[in-house]
Amino acid sequence: MSKEKFSGVKGMNDMLPQDAAIWQTVQQTAVNVLERYGYQEIRTPILENTKVFTRGVGEVTDIVEKEMYSFTDSMNGDQLTLRPEGTSAVVRCVNENNLLYGATQRLWYCGPMFRHERPQRGRYRQFHQFGAEALGMAGPDIDAEMIVMLNRIWKELGVGHVRLELNTLGALPERQAHRDALIKYFEANRDVLDEEAQRRLYTNPLRILDTKNPDMQDLVNAAPRLLDYLGEESRGFLARMEEMVSAAGIDYTINPRLVRGLDYYNHTVFEWITEKLGAQGTICGGGRYDPLIEMLGGRPAPGVGFAMGMERVIELMRECGNVPTRTQTDVYVIHHDGDAHVKAMLLAEQLRDRGIRVIVHPGTAGMKNQMKKADASGARFAVFATEDELAGGNVSVKSLREGETSFAEQTTVSLESAAEAVANAFAK
Ligand code: HAM
Repeated sequence: MSKEKFSGVKGMNDMLPQDAAIWQTVQQTAVNVLERYGYQEIRTPILENTKVFTRGVGEVTDIVEKEMYSFTDSMNGDQLTLRPEGTSAVVRCVNENNLLYGATQRLWYCGPMFRHERPQRGRYRQFHQFGAEALGMAGPDIDAEMIVMLNRIWKELGVGHVRLELNTLGALPERQAHRDALIKYFEANRDVLDEEAQRRLYTNPLRILDTKNPDMQDLVNAAPRLLDYLGEESRGFLARMEEMVSAAGIDYTINPRLVRGLDYYNHTVFEWITEKLGAQGTICGGGRYDPLIEMLGGRPAPGVGFAMGMERVIELMRECGNVPTRTQTDVYVIHHDGDAHVKAMLLAEQLRDRGIRVIVHPGTAGMKNQMKKADASGARFAVFATEDELAGGNVSVKSLREGETSFAEQTTVSLESAAEAVANAFAK
């Protein structure tokens, strides 16, 4: 037989059992917060028709140009893509199921996304997003509520060291006027533009502002600012949102260069950033995307949302020394073979009826060996179902933790009352 040991795909990680508690904490905390704001879960498939993303995210974006896992379905020639983000998929689903007819939607989702990026700390090819989309609501109150909601998630997760950057991309005509000004400006400085910027000059000049090229920073810093092209309405939208965010006591900075890597945004865009994670410090990004629903074939309706990178949030929790742990079990049942094993199994069922997590030692083994396994399991109590105890209609219970007062000494209890007695100890 071949001895080859297989490895996972580069940039795609396993989640190991010891990390389950922290993953569950992040998701459950986020869900718990969102439910307090009226959000409900939505799930869409991991595969979508490629067009959903080329249209939704935009043809001239890093995601669509370089990062999508796309393939042709060999059965029918369909062009399919592993979802690189959730928003376009959720909007496709909402349109297809007419969820916005006479209604608004507040939705959350959590799951794997796929981008063919160069893997590094905090940047993976399969990563997980927890996201939310508020659909059908046009006002800045909803944008502000998103920020307030996220701030609450960070607080309830015990995540510190995050700062909020806000910007506005204005409305379409303002963006067009700004875009024309940008093209003129960059044309006049063509010699400073790198190859990528040259290529994007006429297709997506806004993204040039996003460049990491140090040789272009002076040029970009002096470029025309969208803020100067905003009309009354857009200014009012931003001002109202700022007013609400400030009233909630949340600090932020306006970063006029924050343009985000997806094309569907207008008005508000935001990112939550930490310095604790090195280069990949954006733990959450989002914004308003009023054109998207119509772009994906729906009746015009506004939308705003966010997505956080679960891996990055978890890494930040670790950096903050905030790592929830959970033992494998509450009770470990040690037993003799034969009839004792059957009685042990039935007692375990009674404990599980009471919501207690129980492991019954598998198979047969010496008492010492079973005791070692009980210790390693992290259980709070060991239950001994030995032939001697059972002959008298009893079992015994012993605490496995120092400082535990219930069953500190090994204590005999009747088999009949054992489940109740252990459950009472947990209730204390
Ligand atoms: P995004 O900024 O592309 O936005 O991604 C959101 C978050 O996902 C990022 O801030 C980051 O934490 C995480 N993330 C992105 N790429 C990776 C990666 N390769 N490895 C690990 N984490 C990553 C969106 O996807 C929009 N759909 C957000 C949104 C929802 N806007 C409105 N609604």
